[in-house]
Amino acid sequence: MLSWDEYNAEEAPVEKPAAPVIKAAVSTAAVSTADINAAAAAAAARALEELDIAAGLEELEMGAARVSVDEKAMINCRADLNQLVPFKYDWAWQKYLDGCANHWMPQEINMTADVATWKSSDGLSADERRIILRSLGYFSTADSLVANNLVLAIYRHITNPECRQYLLRQAFEEAIHTHAYQYCIESLGMDEGEVFNMYREVPSVAKKAAWSLSHTHDLNDPNFKTGTQEADQTLLRNLIGFYAVTEGIFFYCGFSQILSMGRRNKMTGVAEQFQYILRDESMHLNFGIDVINQIKLENPQLWTQEFKQEAVQMILEGTQLEIEYARDTMPRGVLGMNAPMMEEYLQFIANRRLSQLGLPEQFAGAQNPFPWMSEIMDLRKEKNFFETRVIEYQTGGALSWD
Ligand SMILES: [Fe+2]
Ligand SMILES: [Fe+2]
Repeated sequence: MLSWDEYNAEEAPVEKPAAPVIKAAVSTAAVSTADINAAAAAAAARALEELDIAAGLEELEMGAARVSVDEKAMINCRADLNQLVPFKYDWAWQKYLDGCANHWMPQEINMTADVATWKSSDGLSADERRIILRSLGYFSTADSLVANNLVLAIYRHITNPECRQYLLRQAFEEAIHTHAYQYCIESLGMDEGEVFNMYREVPSVAKKAAWSLSHTHDLNDPNFKTGTQEADQTLLRNLIGFYAVTEGIFFYCGFSQILSMGRRNKMTGVAEQFQYILRDESMHLNFGIDVINQIKLENPQLWTQEFKQEAVQMILEGTQLEIEYARDTMPRGVLGMNAPMMEEYLQFIANRRLSQLGLPEQFAGAQNPFPWMSEIMDLRKEKNFFETRVIEYQTGGALSWD
C-alpha cells in the first residue's frame, strides 16, 4: 500500500544540512534569541553564497537551448520540465482550465433534508440505506487511492509540464472528493470507523480497492524508472488500471445508484455532491484516455498484440468486479434498477472504455439502460444543472481589475 513513509524514505536523500550553525547555537542552554537570530542570518548568508545554480538540479543546464515543442514528450522526456510553455498538448492545458472553471466545495451543498431523511425511521428502505452506506464506504477511500497513485506513482513519470499542471488540479479535486464523502458521513452521523474501513472489511468493496492497488505497487518501488519496454508498459498498465478501470468503471455502479436516488427526490444533498464529483470524474477519465493514447502514438512499440490482450483483460476484470459489487449492493430491485440491468450498463460502459482505447468491444449489443446518466454527464443537455455555481466561479475567474 502507498504511504508517505515509504515515499519520504526514498525521496529524502542524505544531504549536507544547509545551516549546521543553527543547530549548534540552539543546543546551547544559555543561548539568547538575539544569538539565534544572528546565527541564522549568518548561516543563511553562507548557504546562499554556496548555492551552485548549475549543480542544484539534475536537469538544469546553464546556457542550454530553450525548450522547443518538438522536444516535449509524454514520457521519458529530457527537456526542462519546469517550463510550462510552449504548449505541446493544448488539450491538457484546456482541461486544466476547465477543471478550474468548475471549482466547487462540499460545504456549498445543503444537507439538511438528507439528515432528516437518514435519521427518520421510514425515510428510506433498508435496501436504499445499504446502497448509501456501501457507496460512501467504497468512495471514501477510493479517491484517496486515486490521489495517492497520482502523486506518488504517476506524477513523476509523466514528463510533460502541461499534463503535470492538470495532474495537480486533479489531485486537488480528488482531495475535494474525499472531503465531500467525509462531509456526507459526518453530516449523516454515520459510524466513521465502519464506513472508512469497508475497503478492508466488506469483500465487494475490498476487492475493487485491492485490484486498484495491485496496479500501483510496481510504480511505488523507489527504484522504478521508465525508459525500457517493460517499465513503460508497467506505467501504461497503471494508467489503464486507474483511469480506465478505477475511475472509468468502478465508480459507475455507485454513481448511478446515488443519482437515481436523487432523481427520486431522496438524499438530494448526497446526490448533488455525487453529481459534482461525476462531472470532475468524467474529465479525469477523458484526460487519462488522452494521455494513454498519446503515449501509444509516441511509443507504438509498447502497444503490442500481447499488451492489447492484457489491456482487454484488465477491462474485463474491472467489469466483473463492478458487477459483483452491483449484486452485493442490490440483492433485490431498488430505485428502478436491479443487478441484471446494472450488469448490462457496466458492459455498455466497458465497451465504451475499450473503444476509447482503440481496443475491440467485448459485449456485443450491450445497451445503456440508464440513458439519463449520459444526460447528467453531458452538462449542456441538463437544464439548470450546476448552472448557478458554474457561472459564479467562471465570473469570479474572469473578474476585471480595471
Ligand atoms: Fe475523485
Ligand atoms: Fe478522479
